[in-house]
Amino acid sequence: MNAPLYAIPGATARTGAAAPEGAGTAAEPNAVRTARTVGEVLRESQVEAVFDELERDLVGLAPVKQRIRDVAALLVIDKLRLNVGLQAQAPSLHMSFTGNPGTGKTTVALRMAAILHRLGYVRKGHLVAVTRDDLVGQYIGHTAPKTKEVLKKAMGGVLFIDEAYYLYRPENERDYGQEAIEILLQVMENQRDDLVVILAGYKDRMDTFFKSNPGLSSRIAHHIDFPDYGEGELLQIAERMLAGLNYRFGAGAREAFADYLGLRLRQPHFANARSVRNALDRARLRQASRLFAEHDAVLDAEALSTISSEDIRASRVFAAAP
Ligand SMILES: Nc1ncnc2c1ncn2[C@@H]1O[C@H](COP(=O)(O)OP(=O)(O)OP(=O)(O)O)[C@@H](O)[C@H]1O
Ligand SMILES: [Mg+2]
Repeated sequence: MNAPLYAIPGATARTGAAAPEGAGTAAEPNAVRTARTVGEVLRESQVEAVFDELERDLVGLAPVKQRIRDVAALLVIDKLRLNVGLQAQAPSLHMSFTGNPGTGKTTVALRMAAILHRLGYVRKGHLVAVTRDDLVGQYIGHTAPKTKEVLKKAMGGVLFIDEAYYLYRPENERDYGQEAIEILLQVMENQRDDLVVILAGYKDRMDTFFKSNPGLSSRIAHHIDFPDYGEGELLQIAERMLAGLNYRFGAGAREAFADYLGLRLRQPHFANARSVRNALDRARLRQASRLFAEHDAVLDAEALSTISSEDIRASRVFAAAP
């Protein structure tokens, strides 16, 4: 193979049991490098804690959670293979996350980065989220340094490219996006043992993008689709978000929010869990105004943490309804 044209400093070589001193990280103690059973790797890497968090924090997404476990299984077995001296090229872990806005793509990418780190696939496990504008320059000669700078920051972790299809503009013959794609391709191939690239966006646009960019498509090993949430799931997401902020629904407020969702789902620009978060933010504003007006009332924890049915029903989504 040719020497990488775009070598990014700081990338480490893939090493197994014979790793030199100091190659282990905090999340990958020596024991992982001598583990001989799946159980040992799971215990030593503490990756199960991330699975538990994933179950606890994220409503629904069963197929997505299963795919994450599949990826983890691949890495655990790869580790056991390395430990008995079965060297192989690092498995390719570049992914595409497709789905509508607010379906949890960014959130899951963060968890994925943590899993990859705990299993010792990447050194740092951070996530760098970018869009076209962070990678592509406006003038000749701008794009390569921009893209390389981003790659340098992402090395040792996950590079998450949101709405990745904007990198490719077929209508523009001299588009600099192509240059960014070529650099990405190089690094995805040559430094895959220390960088995972996740391309995210709407499913149909991503499909078209992959058709016009077979080189990229062939380097994506895992395509994960994020379905829209059902009304029941959105309601559960709302309750978890509120609990996380030390709020809760008061009498009748849960039903009010279910009614709200029923109406909001049918309106334009509905963005799944993101719309739930925004609706709750506005309900908190209304709760604050309501309490603010009660000058002389002593506000106890109960009052301060309760979102009432009227805080929900005052939304203009109800006013607009027939
Ligand atoms: N299954 C879920 N359970 C609980 N909260 C969720 C779930 N999915 C998403 N959220 C929450 O909803 C919000 C939006 O999620 P996120 O940003 O991950 O979606 P996204 O698919 O990346 O959206 P976008 O395409 O708009 O960037 C976040 O606050 C996240 O914590
Ligand atoms: Mg996102």
